[in-house]
Amino acid sequence: MLNFTIDETRCVQCAECVADCPVSIIDMGGENGLPRIPEHKESHCIRCQHCLAVCPTAALSILGQDPDLCMPVMPPAPEALENLIKSRRSVRRFSPEAVDQVTLNRLMDVTAYAPTGKNQRLVRFTLVDDPEVMEQIRVRTMEGIRKAAMEDTLPDGMEFFAKFLDPYEQGRDIIYRQAPHMLIASAPQDAAAPEADPFIALSYFEVMAQSLGLGTLWCGFARWALQSVVPQLGRALGIPAEHRSMYAMMFGHPAVRYARTVQREAGNVHRVRLADFGGVR
Ligand SMILES: Cc1cc2nc3c(=O)[nH]c(=O)nc-3n(C[C@H](O)[C@H](O)[C@H](O)COP(=O)(O)O)c2cc1C
Repeated sequence: MLNFTIDETRCVQCAECVADCPVSIIDMGGENGLPRIPEHKESHCIRCQHCLAVCPTAALSILGQDPDLCMPVMPPAPEALENLIKSRRSVRRFSPEAVDQVTLNRLMDVTAYAPTGKNQRLVRFTLVDDPEVMEQIRVRTMEGIRKAAMEDTLPDGMEFFAKFLDPYEQGRDIIYRQAPHMLIASAPQDAAAPEADPFIALSYFEVMAQSLGLGTLWCGFARWALQSVVPQLGRALGIPAEHRSMYAMMFGHPAVRYARTVQREAGNVHRVRLADFGGVR
């Protein structure tokens, strides 16, 4: 039941909702020529809410959402966004204190707006919001690595984890970088876009977190550790075994401040010309 309703006093019958529906299930065949979704097409809806978002007069509601409660569209100044993207750094020095729950809730709320294939929204977020839990993950990861190194059972290609033991004994955590928090995004293999969805979600999370002054770190080491070296710990954290597509991001208050952006060379862009593939037919 989509609960698709039109406020007749507001609808100007512009049919923008019809034109924008990605699965073309809205038509103007409702009472008095208003938009409607025929019942037999309801199951095709991907619940993206484009119809609600595009309506210029806030006349349309779907899934019980009140259009008057949506945020107005206010894109940030391009300079501000460019600066955020260019000044975002991988933070590897964190202060130990926890990020407050209000900020964490806001971050997770915003992250839920990341797009997913077919709008399936199957990404699972495994959030370590308690620094004490993070400390236990750190301790148990290192115990697991030490045991596997001693028994010579580190998985192929993962032998390098043994090199992190000595620095750890000296107080340097090369895997989790002593971060107080970790967010893991994972998706089941049968999702429409299992490879992309967790990465997009973490990218959105990262940008929002850095805009709030937090530090973030994409953490391949955490992913490998939790997936391959101490998988039992990964499962204990609640990452479903069938979620093979997953990535981890460390975050917290940074104990470092960058004074400027870096300078990167232009990306490796290959511009496709007609001549490259035989010209016009
Ligand atoms: C997918 C991915 C995985 C990464 N894994 C790690 C990691 O395990 N440990 C680490 O210290 N940095 C990790 N990084 C950070 C990169 O080293 C970093 O992005 C790169 O050096 C550029 O620095 P910048 O992010 O500050 O621009 C990772 C980055 C990405 C995108």
